[in-house]
Amino acid sequence: MSELDRIRAKLRTSQQRTFPRQLREFGLDLIVREVVFPPEDFQSWRWFTENFPPFARKRILEIGFGLPCLLLAKTGALSLLACDINPRAVANTLENAARNGIENVEIIQSDIFNNIPPGSKFDIIFWNYPWNFAPANFEFIDDLERGAIDPGYRQLERFLAEGRAFLTERGKILLGFGTNARDDLLERIVAANDLKSVIVRWGTYRTST
Ligand SMILES: C[S@@+](CC[C@H](N)C(=O)[O-])C[C@H]1O[C@@H](n2cnc3c(N)ncnc32)[C@H](O)[C@@H]1O
Repeated sequence: MSELDRIRAKLRTSQQRTFPRQLREFGLDLIVREVVFPPEDFQSWRWFTENFPPFARKRILEIGFGLPCLLLAKTGALSLLACDINPRAVANTLENAARNGIENVEIIQSDIFNNIPPGSKFDIIFWNYPWNFAPANFEFIDDLERGAIDPGYRQLERFLAEGRAFLTERGKILLGFGTNARDDLLERIVAANDLKSVIVRWGTYRTST
């Protein structure tokens, strides 16, 4: 079985659970609904949440949201704008913000920066990016696959090319990138956009398989 087939199979299996699911993580009371990127099966969010660099009093934009945006908003970010392309993820995150009384987070649907108000500036722009590479002609079966796979790394190209315009003078783009991701393509895209990259933190986390 190829790596892409394995990921597809894991995404399908994740939807065989009973929904809605209730979780308590990092002191938050969460509901997880169907066709939302499955937190129990893909645990990278936990590592990113535990290893997020200092964010107190920062203006943050999170692309492709989940638990991190709620926790950052609750525990010290000045403001948090969070967006996702998946309308069910938007509805589910609005529901979780309300359940936990989190008010300093704005949640919108957006294809990367398309609906981010022009002129907005952020200290940190974060994306736990769908770093599994597929050929450019790969076709998604559903929104779940968008959460895990980036055909031709086109989303990454857009994210890095368009992101700088939304940064404050000392702002940073923070990219969640897996050890099985294509470093060579990342380096090429970083150089093509005249950016500089450093590894802020790296580590391993337990997976469900
Ligand atoms: C790896 S998941 C991360 C989800 C969550 N932040 C977490 O850490 O578990 C990637 C997320 O990016 C979203 N996404 C994929 N393509 C997108 C796009 N073009 N614009 C906005 N969000 C996108 C997916 O819907 C998914 O929620």
